[in-house]
Amino acid sequence: MASGQLSRDEALECSHSRHACHVMLYSDTASQLFGRIPIRHVVLMQMRFDGLLGFPGGLVEPSEETLEEGLTRELLEELGVAVPVSIEDHVASSFAPSRPGSSSRLMLHFYVKKMEEEGILEVEKAAVSTAVDHGLEVMGMVRVPLYTTKSDGGLPFFLSHSFIGNARSQLVDSLLRLHLVSPQELRHALRSSQRKHS
Ligand code: GTP
Ligand code: MN
Ligand code: MN
Ligand code: MN
Ligand code: MN
Ligand code: MN
Repeated sequence: MASGQLSRDEALECSHSRHACHVMLYSDTASQLFGRIPIRHVVLMQMRFDGLLGFPGGLVEPSEETLEEGLTRELLEELGVAVPVSIEDHVASSFAPSRPGSSSRLMLHFYVKKMEEEGILEVEKAAVSTAVDHGLEVMGMVRVPLYTTKSDGGLPFFLSHSFIGNARSQLVDSLLRLHLVSPQELRHALRSSQRKHS
């Protein structure tokens, strides 16, 4: 585990902090952009109410619910469908960067769950039709483009947006760890994303 990252149990021992759980839902796909660029995987993120990109999930109450129950509850609110997330889907926990003036710390728990493509489609449909948070906390679900076009479109531009907390590194680390993007492609995308801020 990378430095600053805690196991689920270690993180739960920090009883004086608030806790939040977020998840990266993804699937494989055979579809191709313009009939020639393989999409390869569908990775879901969301445009949040604050204009930042992040993963679905939210604050949980460890005194009243397990982390995974809390995350499933948040997913029902934000995605409109029950996506059961289990302990085995936990990737890492870490403290949120502390904000000046805020006394209570926030522990962030990150999960990754692989689904069937049909399940992802169901989530996307429910997110605009039955999710109570649609148009409120969540402005919409977005798919992460994993390809890079000749003009550096795709992943480089996506990574140049603004992200909540450490959601950007959660995304980048997961793409690498799960082999969703090759290390060379990811390195190129990271480098050229830095040139894209206007
Ligand atoms: P409320 O119901 O309004 O409280 O929102 P919520 O429960 O859905 O909480 P939210 O998803 O905003 O997450 C709570 C906090 O966790 C945020 O204020 C951020 O600091 C942090 N956070 C939100 N999304 C992410 C994410 O994708 N990754 C990381 N690392 N942190 C996040
Ligand atoms: Mn077109
Ligand atoms: Mn949320
Ligand atoms: Mn929420
Ligand atoms: Mn909430
Ligand atoms: Mn809420």
